[in-house]
Amino acid sequence: MPAHDVLIIGAGLAGQRAALAAAREGATVAVMSKVQPVRSHSVAAAGGINAAISIDDDWRSHAYDTVKGSDFLGDQDAIEIMCAEAPAEVMHLEHIGVTFHRNERGELDLRAFGGASMKRTAYVADITGQAMLHVLYEQLMRRHETVDTYEEWFTTSLLQDAEGSCCGAVARDVRSGRMEAFTAKNVILACGGAGQAYKPTTNGLIVTGDGIALAYRIGAPLMDMEMVQYHPTCLVETGILITEGARGEGAHLLNSQGERFMQKSAPNKMELASRDVVSRAEQIEIDEGRGVGPDGNGLYLDVTVVPRKRTLEALREIVSLGKDFAGVDITREPITIRPGQHYIMGGVKTDVDGRTPIEGLYAAGEVACVSVHGGNRLGANSLLDTLIFGRRAGEHAAARAASMGMPEPDTVAALRRDSELIESIISRPREGRRVSEIKDELGELMNREAAVFRSREGLERARETVARLKEESAQAWIDDRGTVFNQDVLGAIELGYMVDCAEAIVLAALERTESRGAQFRTDFPARNDDEWLKHIDISLNGDGPRVSYSPVTITQWQPEERKY
Ligand code: FUM
Repeated sequence: MPAHDVLIIGAGLAGQRAALAAAREGATVAVMSKVQPVRSHSVAAAGGINAAISIDDDWRSHAYDTVKGSDFLGDQDAIEIMCAEAPAEVMHLEHIGVTFHRNERGELDLRAFGGASMKRTAYVADITGQAMLHVLYEQLMRRHETVDTYEEWFTTSLLQDAEGSCCGAVARDVRSGRMEAFTAKNVILACGGAGQAYKPTTNGLIVTGDGIALAYRIGAPLMDMEMVQYHPTCLVETGILITEGARGEGAHLLNSQGERFMQKSAPNKMELASRDVVSRAEQIEIDEGRGVGPDGNGLYLDVTVVPRKRTLEALREIVSLGKDFAGVDITREPITIRPGQHYIMGGVKTDVDGRTPIEGLYAAGEVACVSVHGGNRLGANSLLDTLIFGRRAGEHAAARAASMGMPEPDTVAALRRDSELIESIISRPREGRRVSEIKDELGELMNREAAVFRSREGLERARETVARLKEESAQAWIDDRGTVFNQDVLGAIELGYMVDCAEAIVLAALERTESRGAQFRTDFPARNDDEWLKHIDISLNGDGPRVSYSPVTITQWQPEERKY
């Protein structure tokens, strides 16, 4: 049975950064991922990474912008750490080979991004996440003697010892169907968000809330789950992301009357207000009949105002996406976009070293809620979050591992339970509903009722429907009865993970009777600091979720009215 000091589940940027940090501290490390690591969803992060590296910038300005972007729900101690450590992290990336764009003076170039008071986003054209992921993977390969990689292994549960500490995981080898228990002194969850609980979403098919649900099921609290980010520029049919870098380079948003409608809600920052503000403004235009496209449910993103040479150089990925997925040459005509689900600010509650309240269990990246994003994440702060808190979790877990012996959990029962679950899914009769039907209903429901605008009635409908979908998903049937690459059976388990996440999102959104950041309640349209300047935590109590609250950490920035 494999045993490691640190087992990392997920091989995107947070996971790989955690692995490199833990290995550097002398730990034996395993990285396990349900896909080949460079297919992790970090590859889709486009526009860049924020860091106060310009000589006229200061990390405190970055931190203030992040606090304001979070609508004052972010924990300021964590935000200070992230922003203060950002410049060194970006320089580290550059030194290990990330080919950041440079300006004519040969310095790292910086582009404008939403909610930022100055240009602060370092970038590699519009493939920044992909560039970083490949460089980190090279570094990981160099450390093959201390870092084992388990590629295409799917985690079915976390192991706990008699005291409740996390001490490993059970997983299935996707290629063969073999089940295995992995013992570890520490487990770091780094397996991303839960975007596939929405349809459409910018998130890849692999982003199914696995880590959030795995942690929740063993008692770890989830925090800020109501805070779901809609990105302002996604293709209407598919939800494919058109990077905020386009607006950073100067692109305009226009309604059917050719009006730059952001003038009304963010006259200073216009298209570069924070994402919650821009997505709401767009949804209002659409709802009030000023949308474009055959169904009037889009708006124009006009990139033609950016010099064509610059677009072809700095936004080349979206030039291809526009042609391939919308038949539009964005250098010559506007493209139709709308707000689409993109990111979950909430996740597994952690401290600034990635520790969850469960001993031995860490989380970093989108799966975690530190909380540096609070009610709304600033664009280009997610790559930063993955790296800073991935590294810190890796370092802390390695230090903890050095002080303890290898646990010896009784893995037999867990292996038997998970194997039987998989067998039972495979042998379900073809009656009732298929996994894919339930997943579609869930995604469409969430995108209708737990989206940019929310109301009690809609959220109550969502709560009832999610409860029904939970029951149906426990009986849903699949086609594939084999063992080799049976993605169908994994899809059934992923559906359970997504339903857990949806349940927590809806419950928290119902609970928060105010509007803040990405949560806009039409029945409570104002922010209410007196009652709601606090986090909502959701834990599993017996079979059902239980709500509690925790305070927001404020260091230097008192809540104030948020204007862009
Ligand atoms: O629009 C984008 O490039 C997305 C960046 C992010 O979510 O940080």
